Amino acid sequence: MTGSELVRQAHERSWDVVGLTRDDMDITDADQVEGIIGAERPDVIVNAAAYTAVDAAESDAEAAMAVNAAGTQNIARAAKTNGAQVLHISTDYVFDGEATHPYLPDDKPAPINVYGESKLAGELALKEACSEHVIVRTSWVYSHEGKNFVRTMLRAADEKTELRIVNDQLGCPTSSQDLARALLCAANLMMKSYVSGTYHFCNAGETSWFDFATAIFDLRNSAQPKLIPISTTDFPTAAKRPRWSVLDTNSFQLAFGVEPRPWRDALKETMERIS
Ligand SMILES: NC(=O)c1ccc[n+]([C@@H]2O[C@H](COP(=O)([O-])OP(=O)(O)OC[C@H]3O[C@@H](n4cnc5c(N)ncnc54)[C@H](OP(=O)(O)O)[C@@H]3O)[C@@H](O)[C@H]2O)c1
Repeated sequence: MTGSELVRQAHERSWDVVGLTRDDMDITDADQVEGIIGAERPDVIVNAAAYTAVDAAESDAEAAMAVNAAGTQNIARAAKTNGAQVLHISTDYVFDGEATHPYLPDDKPAPINVYGESKLAGELALKEACSEHVIVRTSWVYSHEGKNFVRTMLRAADEKTELRIVNDQLGCPTSSQDLARALLCAANLMMKSYVSGTYHFCNAGETSWFDFATAIFDLRNSAQPKLIPISTTDFPTAAKRPRWSVLDTNSFQLAFGVEPRPWRDALKETMERIS
């Protein structure tokens, strides 16, 4: 989702950009990563590659760690060798969801699932191997394409008349379009002046999965399924999820001059792209 959107928007800005799929460059292959980065010599490497199957990671920790931790380390080392900076995407799932204020970048991570642990390990590997980096944590990413909550809801509504949606997990939905735009602003500044550290970016406002689903169907011009709010305990999943994962984006706004728009506005644009 995010990688292809980044490449699309970078092309729109006429940037000299190389977009790589997993087939082009498997980040778990250190030699391949070093070879490609050594040949391309980029100013900034944006790492949008990740093992993102949160539930599958619980029974496949090795694969999640290989991509999210070792893969990130491979990119960091190749960046260091070749004088590139790394712009790395991470997640709200590095936190446990028990905070009483929106999470600040410096708050102590405490992941409660394997995916979160592997993403935190990736952050640490990057910090250790390459000081020239920016980490941007985001949350609840969706897009007009790829595997995500919005498309899952629309597909489910084609098959069922009634959907049961969790109502007691809160977070900030983020469109891949807005995320990519924000990341390119960060990359632009990284190319012009020294900037490093960990930041948070997500669309503005918090919601539950149930209210997010309601907003999706409110924007859809066809028959609506009946939505039933349920609690997390009614919908057991392999991975535990943070109860309240709201990110504070103020430092990102200050550093990169991007104010996140309300999540409903971003969702409207994505829904228009889907229809
Ligand atoms: N989705 C969310 O809700 C969410 C929330 C917070 C943070 N994030 C973070 O946002 C970033 C972008 O993810 P996304 O949301 O855009 O998810 P995505 O659509 O699943 O993108 C992940 C991409 O990584 C690729 N990939 C997986 N293993 C790879 C490997 N070994 N080498 C190279 N590429 C590999 C995948 O390729 P294949 O499709 O071929 O496997 C896929 O294209 C990730 O760092 C993710 O952790 C996502």
